[in-house]
Amino acid sequence: MDKKTAKYSRLYAQARLLLEKESTLIAQMATINAILYHKMQGFFWVGFYFAGNTQLTVGPYQGPLACQNLPYPKGVCWAAIIQNTPLVVPDVTRFPNHIACDRRSKSEIVLPVYNSLNETVAVLDIDSDKLNNFNDIDLYGLRQIIGLINKEYLNTLPPIHKTN
Ligand code: SME
Repeated sequence: MDKKTAKYSRLYAQARLLLEKESTLIAQMATINAILYHKMQGFFWVGFYFAGNTQLTVGPYQGPLACQNLPYPKGVCWAAIIQNTPLVVPDVTRFPNHIACDRRSKSEIVLPVYNSLNETVAVLDIDSDKLNNFNDIDLYGLRQIIGLINKEYLNTLPPIHKTN
């Protein structure tokens, strides 16, 4: 098994045990952030954004101070929501309208987080200080880990409208 795949499988097992004991959405998200930020190589910022009024608003995160709000429709987070798909950006300087919260950020991955009606209620955003740090193994591993978040908790969040 590839080294990164094996790492994700260990982190998944750890997250599963920890998230079972967490009784709120914020506790589950904060735990995921801490696991990923401290255990994955080059994960420079890990966090969630939620629906704001006309923008996305930052939720729990680990890493340097982030943008509080992401105005529609700029940046990678909004692009993932609008296209309804996870996005891997190998070089953020080549992504049109990328929102740079920190100059050290070089590559990025964003995954939509869905409620039980398959509406997007949050995104998981991860920045790396290395170029091209994310691939299909990250997509798969991260999708498994966010799948551990309790859907009942996610159902309490307002869906993000693609036309905000
Ligand atoms: N780069 C993101 C903004 C959030 S930060 O990376 C923490 C974007 O373009 O949506």
